[in-house]
Amino acid sequence: MTHSATLPMPGPGQRPGDGRQPLARHDGYPDGPPRLMPAHGTDPAGLAEHLGRFGPPPYRGGARRLIGEVEAAGLTGRGGAAFPTYRKLAAMAAGNGPAPVVVGNGAEGEPASSKDKALLWYSPHLVLDGLQLAAEAVGSAAAGLYVHRNPRLHERLAAAIADRAAAGLDAAQVELIEAPPRFLAGEESALASRVSGGLALPRFKPPRASQRGVAGRRTLVQNVETLAHLALIARYGAAWFRSTGTPDEPGSMLATLHQADGRTGVVETTLGTPIASLLRLPAQAVLVGGYHGAWLPAGQAELLPLANAALRPLGAAVGAGVLAALPADRCGLAETARVVRYLALESAGQCGPCFNGLPRIAGALAELAGPRPRPQAMADLERWSGLVTGRGACHHPDGTVRLVRSALRVFAPEIDHHAHGYCTAASSQPFLPLPAETALDDADWK
Ligand SMILES: Cc1cc2nc3c(=O)[nH]c(=O)nc-3n(C[C@H](O)[C@H](O)[C@H](O)COP(=O)(O)O)c2cc1C
Ligand code: SF4
Repeated sequence: MTHSATLPMPGPGQRPGDGRQPLARHDGYPDGPPRLMPAHGTDPAGLAEHLGRFGPPPYRGGARRLIGEVEAAGLTGRGGAAFPTYRKLAAMAAGNGPAPVVVGNGAEGEPASSKDKALLWYSPHLVLDGLQLAAEAVGSAAAGLYVHRNPRLHERLAAAIADRAAAGLDAAQVELIEAPPRFLAGEESALASRVSGGLALPRFKPPRASQRGVAGRRTLVQNVETLAHLALIARYGAAWFRSTGTPDEPGSMLATLHQADGRTGVVETTLGTPIASLLRLPAQAVLVGGYHGAWLPAGQAELLPLANAALRPLGAAVGAGVLAALPADRCGLAETARVVRYLALESAGQCGPCFNGLPRIAGALAELAGPRPRPQAMADLERWSGLVTGRGACHHPDGTVRLVRSALRVFAPEIDHHAHGYCTAASSQPFLPLPAETALDDADWK
């Protein structure tokens, strides 16, 4: 982890009380990263250490009271869409009927992302504090933590939840739920279905999970990193949160980095950090935002900050914080074709255009990645990309097409080489991470 330094213990003014006290000042707590992660090399934070550093969750003593602070902080979701968190909280708190359910989303089905697993491993109590505070803010007493299937992580989180229950810390009861290791498992309607005891399959909206989610109840879904930031905002306030990042995109964020030399890691950085300071460049191209993200030429990426304001006009986005530097000796078309084949196999198979279209897109891209593709392959790719866009119950087809179209732009010279029968890559060794093929045979969505 870069940006890691020993986190100082809080000063006396930082012990949160029952929330009716004025917001604690942030003396001694770092303005910049690491905010969420303990220092590199330290053990994950147990409850005693967590309480020593942060004190108990700073409950506000009633619904809605935290929402203004979250709005002032400008916190946006860290699960990919960067939606303003206060708007989700406010809408949920304002709704009628039975109390809503709150679920922390740690499914992290994206094979190139590890930041949520790292956060849950190193700072489980910060996430659990955020879950409690979000539940209080929307008037809920039922919470879930939906986490990527991993026995060691589950054991740790189950112990953390039990420790908190024994200490009487939590107002809402927390249930731990396994997310199947599928790309779509973290999509919010798939989450709602799985947490309700069904299969982790997306469904058409409306209704959204916020209208009818877990067990038919209104459900607030927040990424686990979003919840950890919320727990810190509740303690140190909006001005502290905004003291790093950019005015429009404040705060820190976790990013998963894949360097061209094969090294990978999770870092905590600030929004607006130059991409060139996170990745060791030069490289051939940079993948921004993961497998529903976009390729950028490395020469362009190295001039950009990691911020949506700069990336969106180029068809890219910060997403859930994946950055990958493609080594010079690999074929970007072959890499994209491998990933798109995986994405096609991950289609939940419920919507015709997605089920029929993604395999055709994957096939045409594989042809372009091979020697002497038929001229028709490019036309097929474009036609099928147009046919699947906006036609699914979830954004899987749209995200896949975004990746494909960016590859066609960035690797256009390579397409030309392949058309003439040669590839510039010196290595055919796969670079971008994908689950083992055997995992793809597993049709288990539970
Ligand atoms: C295909 C797909 C997969 C998703 N996977 C995840 C995931 O693994 N984790 C996550 O937090 N959000 C994921 N999301 C986004 C969720 O649907 C939801 O917007 C998010 O959890 C809300 O939390 P946030 O506002 O805190 O970001 C995914 C969305 C899509 C379309
Ligand atoms: S769009 Fe694709 S992945 Fe999404 S629900 Fe439909 S078939 Fe499944």
